[in-house]
This record gives sequence, structure tokens and C-alpha cells, in this order.
Amino acid sequence: MRKIVISTGGGDAPGLNAVIFAVVNSASKRGWEVFGSRSGYRGLLDLDDLVRLTPKDVEGITPIGGTILGSTNKGNPFAMPVQNLAGEIQIVDVSDRVLKNFNRMGFFCHIAVGGDGSLEIAHHFAQKGMPVIGVPKTIDNDLEATDRTFGFDTAVATATEALDKLHSTAKSHDRVMVVEVMGRESGWIALYSGVAGGADVILIPEIPFCIDAVCEKISDNELHDKHYSIVVVAEGAKAEDGEVISRGQGEVGRSEVVLGGIGEWVAGEIRERLGKDTRSLVLGHLQRGGSPTTFDRLLALRFGAAAVRLAEAGIFDHMVAWTPPEMSSVPLADAICCRKKVDLNSDKVLTARDIGICLGDEE
Ligand code: F6P
Repeated sequence: MRKIVISTGGGDAPGLNAVIFAVVNSASKRGWEVFGSRSGYRGLLDLDDLVRLTPKDVEGITPIGGTILGSTNKGNPFAMPVQNLAGEIQIVDVSDRVLKNFNRMGFFCHIAVGGDGSLEIAHHFAQKGMPVIGVPKTIDNDLEATDRTFGFDTAVATATEALDKLHSTAKSHDRVMVVEVMGRESGWIALYSGVAGGADVILIPEIPFCIDAVCEKISDNELHDKHYSIVVVAEGAKAEDGEVISRGQGEVGRSEVVLGGIGEWVAGEIRERLGKDTRSLVLGHLQRGGSPTTFDRLLALRFGAAAVRLAEAGIFDHMVAWTPPEMSSVPLADAICCRKKVDLNSDKVLTARDIGICLGDEE
């Protein structure tokens, strides 16, 4: 009997459980056994953290947020933070142990669900001889090779709902509300939620912004008898002459800095320049939580089923991708080569400009 293992790595995203559901059911239908590796690769490092998953085990998990397997963004087996006997943290390569356990368990395929970081690790394992298939997950939607990643639609829905709610309080107090959303170096969440949620200003990493242009838009609102404004700022946005603001590396073993703080900076500048009552808030991990939207559930289920079809066809070191209208696959090396950015000539950007939203640049 064929045996496969599935893991979920990196930051969680709504729809992870739907992928697990689809993989377990599609594989079981073919008579294969499925195991789940808890917390990224932990189950492949320590076999006690490997769990058998049957259709019964995953019954009803599709609408549930998070991942039943757990996840981590500091679990790279090629650079794992491990505490030595003196209590110091050392970075150790434990990838050989992972591969040994994979072979010992008799797995013929590993389905790795993750964003660019996790997929890069998966690709390294493929180069080491592990048959791997990637499934693209991230609320940031920043993977070049797929039209969408699952999790993005839910994050946008959450951010849009938050913006809807902020309108009434901003209007009641004649205030500017600055909302910082996630997305790393891409402005997808900010652009989609900002346009749908009626923002006056949207600042994305793809367009370094001019704070004068932002203030001008808010002043223009005042002139048109609109005494409140909503500003959406992507966490990776930066002023023309400024830097991306981060909170540093965070925990040991993380590969990327923790972004955040640009919303507060923008709010401070508006307050100082316009003397306008201004508040800022960070939506943060709210965007990663909750039940996946119908769109994300469907996409995640399709990704999971497509990954099992790839495994059956013996196509490894590939990632499943959504290239509308069908599912396809791309080599992992191509999938991780660069991050997908907002196309400044796309219809969504044109729409934002046409309906009067300021994107922080001088047109
Ligand atoms: O990549 C997903 C993401 O949610 C980013 O949007 C955000 O910058 C980052 O993860 C936050 O990571 P953490 O969960 O480690 O705070």
C-alpha cells in the first residue's frame, strides 16, 4: 500500500484544513495511507509527532480556520534552532534525519503546504531526493506561479469588513482612520480590501508614497464637505524617501523580519501636518483567522485533490497552481524564484484611480 505524508508550514491561512481534507479523501479513495506531520517538519523529525489521518479523522474540518496539524515559521530543518546543553540556541542542519525518517516510514510522497519559505525548503528536500509536491498557501497572495493562493480571499473579506465598520466611527468623529494590513512586500490585501471597503487612500509597497499627496487627498475631502477619511496601508509600504518599517527579526530561527509600524508613522504625519484627529490600528493576525470563505474552501479543496493527482502521475518537485480556468503544475524552482507584485497597469489599480482613490503618488 502507498503511503504519503502531508505537512503545513509557515504562517497559517484559512483553508489549510480544506487542503488536508481533500488530500486525505483523494488519497484514501486510491487506497493510499495518509500521515500528517505535526508543526511543519516536527513529525518527520520525531515520529511521535506523526499522526495517521483517515477520512474519519478529517470529517467536518473544511470550514475550520487554522490547521489541525499545527504550523511554525521557525522549523526549517536545514537551519533549525536547537538549544544545546549550556542552554544556548544553535542553528543546526537536521535535514538528513528528516529524510531518513521519511524513507524509514516508506513514504512515496510528501505534500508540503506552505508559502514561499516552506516551498523553498520543500524544493531543497526534492534536491536531496525526497519526492515532494507543493501546495501554495499564504494570505499575502505573493506567489508568482499561481493566480491565487488560498487564504487571500478570506483575509481580504476580513479587512473589508473592518473597513466597513471604521467608516461609521470615523464619520461620527470627523477623524482620519489609518488601517495597517498584512501582505509583506506585496500590496494585494491593501489594494483589494481598500477598493472594496471604500478607502480614500491606499498605500502599497509597489508605489513608494509621497506623504504630501496623502495629506492633499484628505484636505480635498474636507473641501468637498467630507470630514473623515480612511487610509489603508500595507505593512510593507514605504515613503518615497523612507525605509520599510520593521520590528526586527523576532524569534530565533525566523528567516524574515517582522514588518509593522508604517500605519502609526503615517497617522503621526497626518496629525502633525493637518492637525486632524487621527487614529491608527493594525489588523494583524485577525486577517489569518476564522473560517475560510467559499472561494478559499473551493480553491484549497481543488489544490489538495490536484496535489494527489500529481503524486499519482509521479510529477514531483512541482507545485500545484491555479491558472484559470484549470489547475496546473509548475516546477518548485520557478514557483519560488520571485514574489508576485501588484501590476500597476492592472484593472484594479486603474479602477482605484478612476473612482478617486489616492495611491500615494502624484498622478
Ligand atoms: O506571510 C503571512 C504573514 O501573515 C504576513 O502577512 C505577515 O507579515 C507575517 O506572516 C506575520 O508573521 P508572524 O505570524 O510570524 O507574526
